[in-house]
Amino acid sequence: MTTESNTGPTPTDIIRHGEITSYQLTPQGSNYTFLVSIDLDGKETSAIYKPRQGEAPLWDFPSGTLYKREYAAYLLSQILGWNIVPFTIIRDGPYGIGSVQQFVDHDPRQNYYTLDEACADQLRTIACFDLVANSTDRKANHLLLGDGGKIWSIDHGLTFHSDMKVRTVIWDFCSEPVPSPLLDSLTNLREMLDRPADSLPSQVKELVTLLPVAELDALKRRLDWILEERVYPGLPGRNRRRR
Ligand SMILES: Nc1ncnc2c1ncn2[C@@H]1O[C@H](COP(=O)(O)OP(=O)(O)O)[C@@H](O)[C@H]1O
Ligand SMILES: [Mg+2]
Repeated sequence: MTTESNTGPTPTDIIRHGEITSYQLTPQGSNYTFLVSIDLDGKETSAIYKPRQGEAPLWDFPSGTLYKREYAAYLLSQILGWNIVPFTIIRDGPYGIGSVQQFVDHDPRQNYYTLDEACADQLRTIACFDLVANSTDRKANHLLLGDGGKIWSIDHGLTFHSDMKVRTVIWDFCSEPVPSPLLDSLTNLREMLDRPADSLPSQVKELVTLLPVAELDALKRRLDWILEERVYPGLPGRNRRRR
């Protein structure tokens, strides 16, 4: 542990090394999703635990892989430097291995449809993330409004499929240019994905190890596509909600 003794463990330390002392099924999950308390050295934090064995089977995603996709989405957000997914790890819990994600204090009355124009740039980043991660389940309540107006993206079990299947509520930016700082991050990632795994920064290495080859190839193709198009895709007949 890297924590200084006078400050005690950080929430990240607690999630990594602590003991899950209580767990309670969340009412809104499609899978068995638990709100858990984790304790380390008398300090406690809350997290969302999604055990592999609680995953509902799906026809199009391989069974028992959703928790890995939760972690892969966190890695992607960190690698791109966008910090939109709460801290997530893969670890053991009361129902076995699963993803454990830091609980974000948020206003439960807010969701995508209630967010105002001040959030537009954060939504641009999340909409771009969804194209890269191939988010197949971007619902309005998967955006949490946290402290200081920060928007967090959650529920990434359905990501990284090798077929393009983005499904999202965020259609605000159809045909608009993707902001260049976002494109710069994508260019950087795309270049790294052509390098040998052992020369990569640790989180990129973890991501390429976690994803099956077909999904990694599909990730590269999505990056190439966005970097070539440089605009958010649209759908005929979809109107923008804002403007
Ligand atoms: N990191 C988080 N912080 C706060 N609440 C969360 C977080 N992750 C999930 N939740 C809450 O738990 C509910 C179920 O989580 P979700 O990720 O949608 O699970 P599922 O994979 O079962 O659909 C969400 O609607 C949200 O209210
Ligand atoms: Mg959900």
